[in-house]
Parts: sequence; C-alpha cells; structure tokens
Amino acid sequence: MTPPAPPPTPSVAPPTAARAIGALPGPRGLPLLGSLHRWDPSRAHLILEQWAREYGPIYRFRLGPQAVVVISEADAMMSVLRERPHDFRRHFAVRPIFREMGIDGLFSAEGDDWRRQRPLVMRALDPVHLRRFFPTVVTATERLQARWLAAATAGAPVDLRADLTRYTVDVTCSLAFGTDVATLSRDDVDPLQPHLDRIFAGIARRINALWPTWRWFRTRTDREIERSLAVAGRAVQGFIASARAEMARRPELRRAPQNLLQALLAANEDAKLSDAELRGNVMTLLLAGEDTTANTIAWALHLLSLNPDVRRAARTEAIEALAAEREDGTRPVALHEFDSTRGLPLIEGVVLEALRLKPVAPLNMFTAVRETVLVGTRIPPRTLVCILKRPPATDPRHFADAEAFRPQRWLAGEAAASGAGSQSAPGVGGGGRRAFMPFGGGPRFCPGRYLALLEAKMVLATTLASFELEPTGDPVGEQMGMTMQPRGLKVLLRLPKPHTQRERSGQA
Ligand code: HEM
Repeated sequence: MTPPAPPPTPSVAPPTAARAIGALPGPRGLPLLGSLHRWDPSRAHLILEQWAREYGPIYRFRLGPQAVVVISEADAMMSVLRERPHDFRRHFAVRPIFREMGIDGLFSAEGDDWRRQRPLVMRALDPVHLRRFFPTVVTATERLQARWLAAATAGAPVDLRADLTRYTVDVTCSLAFGTDVATLSRDDVDPLQPHLDRIFAGIARRINALWPTWRWFRTRTDREIERSLAVAGRAVQGFIASARAEMARRPELRRAPQNLLQALLAANEDAKLSDAELRGNVMTLLLAGEDTTANTIAWALHLLSLNPDVRRAARTEAIEALAAEREDGTRPVALHEFDSTRGLPLIEGVVLEALRLKPVAPLNMFTAVRETVLVGTRIPPRTLVCILKRPPATDPRHFADAEAFRPQRWLAGEAAASGAGSQSAPGVGGGGRRAFMPFGGGPRFCPGRYLALLEAKMVLATTLASFELEPTGDPVGEQMGMTMQPRGLKVLLRLPKPHTQRERSGQA
C-alpha cells in the first residue's frame, strides 16, 4: 500500500501571517522599465516559467508601471479560478479591448452579462449536442484525411497547423452555426482563417501593450487588424443572416434550437441578448475553438512522431476501433459512430499528455477584485495575477516521470496498478488531477473541452490508422501568441506498409 499523500500546503494563510506583495522575490528590474528589457511576448510563458524555477511558486515582476504576481502552486491557482467572480475576474484590459474589437462574448463578459450568456453556450457544446452533430465532425475529418492523402501521395510535408485550423474552423461553423464553410475542400487561400490569425495576434498584442497606442494613432498593424475584423465581421453577419432565414422558414426552431446560433438568435428575439452580444459570441466561438484545438492536435501529432512505441500502440487502438464499426472486414476512413470515440483510452491519453506537456493556454491573467491571501501573501484589489499551468503539471510530486510523454499514465488500469486510488490520475502522485488545469477551472472552465477532445480524438485516430508519421528533423519551438503554438512544425505523412500481425493482435 502506498502511504497517504501529505496534506497540501494551505495556499490561503491567515491574514495576520501574510506578507505584502512588495516582500515577494522576483527578477530585479530597472527603474521605470522593470523587466521590460528582458521581455519577449513570443516567449512570455518560457520566461515566466524560468523565473518560477528561480523564485518559487509565487513571485512578482514589473513590466514598466505594471506589477504582476505570478503563481505556479496548484492549490493557489485553483482557488483563483474558483473564487470568481467574487475575488477575481479576467485581466482588466480584456473586456474593453474585446468590446472595441466587436468580439465581446462569453470569454470577456463579467457579472450578470456572463451569467446570462454562460448557459446558452454550455448547452450548445454539451455531449448531447455533440452527439447530434457528430456527422458534421465526421465530414470534416474525412475532408482533412483526403487533403493529407494527397500530400502523402505526393511525398510533400504537411503544414499541420494550417490544415488543422481549417479543420477546427469547419467544425465550429457547421456545429455551432449550421454553416458548412468547407475551407478544407478549397485549394485557394482560406478566406477566414488568416484573418482570425491576425485578430488573435492583435488581441494578444493589445492586452500586453503598456499603453493603448492604437486609440491615439493607427500603425499599419492596427489597420490590418481592423481590416481582418471587418472581413470576419462580414462572415459572422452571413452566418447570422442564414440562421435567421432558416428560423423564419421553420418557426419551431425558436422553441427547440438545433445549434448555438439558433439558440443565441432565439435569446436575441426575446431581448435576452443584445445584437452586439450575439455577434460577439459568434466571433468568440470562432476564435476560442480554432487555435486552441488546432494547436493541441498539432502538438499531439508532433509528440507521437517522436515516440514510435506509443505511436504503434495508439495506431493499433485506432485500427481496432475503425474495424469494429464494420462487420465485413473493411474499415472506414474516419470513425462514424459517436460511441466509438469514447472507446479510445490510449488516444485520449495522448491528447491529455499533449495538454500536460504542451498546454496551449500556458498562462491565464486575472485581476483581483478584493483583498485575498494566496500562498501566504496579501493580494490587494486590482493586482494582476498570472497563473502558470505547466509547472504544477510537470512537477514530479504530482506526476511520476513528469517530463516524459507517457499517455499510458491516464489509463484506468495503470491507476489501479500504481495504487494511485480513484481520486488521482494514473501515474500521478498526490493531487495530480488538481495540478492539471489546461481548460481552466471553477465556474468559468472551458465549455468547449468536450468538443476539443472529440475533434482531437477523431483526427488522431484517423491519421494514425491511415499514415505513418515522420518528423522532418527540423527543430520545433514554442511560440506564444494568444495561444502557445509549435513553431517550425512540419511532419511527413507516409502511406503505411500493411500493418503486421503483431500490431493487429495489440502486442506492439
Ligand atoms: C484544446 C482546446 C482548448 C483549450 C486548451 C481551451 C482552454 C480554455 C481556457 C484555459 C479557458 C479559460 C477558462 C477559465 O477562465 O477558467 C477557456 C475558456 C473558454 N473556451 Fe476554451 N479551450 C479549448 C477549446 C475550446 C473550444 C473548442 C471552444 C468552443 C468552440 C472553446 C470555447 C471557450 C469559451 C467560450 C470560453 C470562455 C468561458 C467563460 O469565460 O465562461 N474552447 N478555454
């Protein structure tokens, strides 16, 4: 029997014992500039993680006039996520910036506005709706595979990120807005995706800016952001117009909306949602569902390409799941049964492991609403608090062999064998599940996580069954924008040799 894990260090200390944030360790900054001279937004998460190694689970640094408290201790991070909206809210710059960009929806909303919008979005992305719209995910997956088959036949390396963002845009538009934009079937430059990319970069840039210079004068980059917002805005108006027309044709959809956009339109007609909120949420969903999921799948494929043993075992699982859908010995290109996607434990482990080692949202920023105490430190109102996801998720106290890519750790069998108990994730020490928060936590946890997992499992199962993955050998770096993406990632997809009897029997 393993001894019980020691109780976690309380993150909330009695106020009398708490120190002021001025007493926290942190990098020595320059007068006025703080640590600006060492800052690089495209490596922000790496810099903050390095400082966490140097200064511990709570530290402080300054960027120009702005002080930030950074936390990487799991319990304190979870209490920030949970204690919303009373003690914390999103970074104070988020809402005004999202508003002026016309993308103010669930992610940026606060207070009553957030409470009104949350159930609408939650319902549209719950597993019941995902099951109903599963055929649209199948269609998008088959199109992606057709595209990759053409690349594999030509021996050309695949730009995973570019194709995967098309995939996630196609899925979100079909599933949430009822519009098949079919960007995967087009050879031309996708009309929407480069604009979403530019908007994403613009949001990150503006939130991180020390001064809102774009309100005083517009640089070329600002004008490009405005142009992209206009293009994406027109696409959103198009989705709304066709959903309105459909609802006018079929009035029963008002009572029983079939997708998120119809639900939002019904709320809009009942005056529960303003026009700006309606447009803002369509844009929010487009943005929130695109980069996050595409980058997670890209990271998972990258990690698989580097780990042949896991790849072989996951391939066997995929082939078996596909073959089980047909009785005649053939297998479809993509899974066609929603329930088949639930029976891919190792592939799900691959996705979770990719999220653990390569979290696409490696940091989240919050503003303290009122005074609280975290890790023995008094946090005054209006303090900016940043939480770092990767340090606790790669801490050996929580995850055995923490730096290794080991999807098996998430399998129930291994949990039992390791004696980790039903509360902990497998291959995980005390409090492992609590240390793993790629989708956030508390009342605002990500409503898209079921969809993200579904998309990732579909693409991985189909790709593993159809292709051999080979890294090109080029170095792959981490680059931070609004999300953390692989830089320089290209993977060669090859048509596999017929799989062996050994693989078929699951011994690989
Ligand atoms: C691997 C993919 C994804 C990751 C890692 C991810 C991560 C996150 C994180 C960290 C948050 C902040 C949660 C918090 O504040 O506690 C969030 C919020 C959100 N996500 Fe995701 N997300 C993913 C996919 C998606 C998808 C596919 C959608 C929808 C199509 C989506 C829609 C949203 C929305 C609307 C919010 C705001 C929720 C709120 O503030 O109430 N996400 N996501």
